[in-house]
Amino acid sequence: MAKAASTTDYRDLARRRLPHFLFEYLDGGAYAETTLARNVSDLQAIALRQRVLKDVATLDLRTSLFGTEYAMPVALAPIGLAGLTARRGETQAVRAAERAGVPFCLSTVSACPIAEVAAAAQQPFWFQMYMVRDRGFMRDLLAQAREARCSALVFTVDLPVPGARYRDIRSGLAGAPGLSGMARRASQALRRPRWLWEVAVRGRPLALGNVAPMLQKESGLNDFLAWISTNFDASLTWADLDWIRAQWDGPMILKGVLDVEDATQAASLGLDGIVVSNHGGRQLDGVLSSTKALPAIAQAVGQRLTILADGGVRSGLDVMRLLALGARGVLIGRPWVFGLAAAGEAGVSHVLSIIEAEMKVAMALTGCRNITEIGPHILSADPR
Ligand code: GLV
Repeated sequence: MAKAASTTDYRDLARRRLPHFLFEYLDGGAYAETTLARNVSDLQAIALRQRVLKDVATLDLRTSLFGTEYAMPVALAPIGLAGLTARRGETQAVRAAERAGVPFCLSTVSACPIAEVAAAAQQPFWFQMYMVRDRGFMRDLLAQAREARCSALVFTVDLPVPGARYRDIRSGLAGAPGLSGMARRASQALRRPRWLWEVAVRGRPLALGNVAPMLQKESGLNDFLAWISTNFDASLTWADLDWIRAQWDGPMILKGVLDVEDATQAASLGLDGIVVSNHGGRQLDGVLSSTKALPAIAQAVGQRLTILADGGVRSGLDVMRLLALGARGVLIGRPWVFGLAAAGEAGVSHVLSIIEAEMKVAMALTGCRNITEIGPHILSADPR
């Protein structure tokens, strides 16, 4: 395997390793992918202030989130189908996260079920949930998450309907029902024999994770995708959060908040945290990047709940930028899943070590010895 230096190198490696439809699904965004691009460009446009002679011989990246201490303020974002990129993928990713001392968040629509990931892990991980119509299914999932000792519930609210992802239609993942979609995906998979053997054959991933019991037949990707599009509950309101609250007594984090009014509502309902996010540019194209949305949200509710942010993070410098804008922790998505696709657990570990090393350089050269010293003062022009 070619050597990866930065997290973005893993994107190229993943593209060569994965069937086309799977790479496109992970890499793509909604509509014209304007927000996807803005997430990256707005973040990278933020200039840091270089400071000197501040005794940065010892750097401490440790941080505490929701009552747990982590090695750095970075978490692996929930990613649907991530486990299809490597053999029993989520079990590899959770181990890498654990070794790096950061939280792993398992998606509802993972390839590996909660119990399998829990068996692979030593420490509690976070669980992400969508509101689906079948409340019995949700109750059951929450019970499994409790049983697995998940330490936080990340409840995603920006997917009442799926954004139109044209790459998925072009690749044959979506919009090509039945045999024709299957045939296209099969022909793409045949061109990736290593993935086919390692993941699809030896990994037997197609009894898909947590939603397997909900699928009508013993099933493939088509059933799975159909289930997602028909079972997510678009009628959800703030009042429904009580229902979840009543059966989850751990920390609850609302993911997909991009507006100050929504953030304020979340704070007044007593949520423990929010993730400022536009779902990696995969939902409503044209909305603000997380970078642009974050400062006002941090100002409004930063003292009342824990703000996490994601979207466009490709390096430790980007983590620093979001922390400086008011996030207490930062979720990375595509970087870890591309690391997983390219090199399994070792790839995720490497991505996390790249980010850690980049953070250390950025902390040293902005004069921050620990995470609490990172703030808007490290930005060359305070964007607030
Ligand atoms: C699911 O959350 C997706 O973005 O595909």
